[in-house]
Amino acid sequence: MPKLDVDVFIEKLSEKHTKDLLSFSCGHSDMDGFAHKDLFVYQKQNIGVSYVLLDKTGKVLSFITLLTGAIKLPEHLKFEIPQLKQLNEVPNQLPALKIGRLGTRKEEQKKGYAKLLISYATYLAKELQEKVGCYFLILDAYPDNITFYQKYRFTCLYSDSKDRETIPMFREISAQLP
Ligand SMILES: CC(C)(COP(=O)(O)OP(=O)(O)OC[C@H]1O[C@@H](n2cnc3c(N)ncnc32)[C@H](O)[C@@H]1OP(=O)(O)O)[C@@H](O)C(=O)NCCC(=O)NCCS
Repeated sequence: MPKLDVDVFIEKLSEKHTKDLLSFSCGHSDMDGFAHKDLFVYQKQNIGVSYVLLDKTGKVLSFITLLTGAIKLPEHLKFEIPQLKQLNEVPNQLPALKIGRLGTRKEEQKKGYAKLLISYATYLAKELQEKVGCYFLILDAYPDNITFYQKYRFTCLYSDSKDRETIPMFREISAQLP
């Protein structure tokens, strides 16, 4: 695991975090409800594994939920990825690690915690690549967060995001983070 140079640490979610998560609020009601009720259940049922970023006292500041996924790239995007050009045939679906949820407590936002969790997801994706095929990190972003994810080199799957509740985004796991 990469060493964090700030006074926080990352743990896999476990039952001991569930009480603290009841007070979690990132300002997005759907995400908050998920953190209060579903996070640990999803993990127990193998639907999504979460990692929590904690302060010294063990308070959950931020969390990320990861699951497997796949992405179907439109033809024109396939040709923008140099490594894919080396294949005789690019598969219809390409394997990915999906960021299912990402949230930071409202009062702790803009301190770089989500950035640390995205770096951690990238580290896990690289580990996964040693064992199973996995090429992209993917997620479905709320429109308000597109510029946030673009900072971390995620690209929108569609140029027209009008009328969509969320927008699929992707990034090569090997891409350098800023
Ligand atoms: C989006 C979210 C997870 C970001 O968490 P965070 O811990 O505040 O993010 P960070 O502090 O790591 O942000 C890193 C950088 O992104 C910027 N940033 C944060 N949120 C942003 C946003 N919505 N749009 C654009 N930039 C944003 C920060 O200012 C910071 O920039 P800097 O490095 O130049 O100073 C948080 O705002 C949140 O929980 N929102 C509600 C839930 C949500 O929408 N989750 C995402 C689902 S798609």
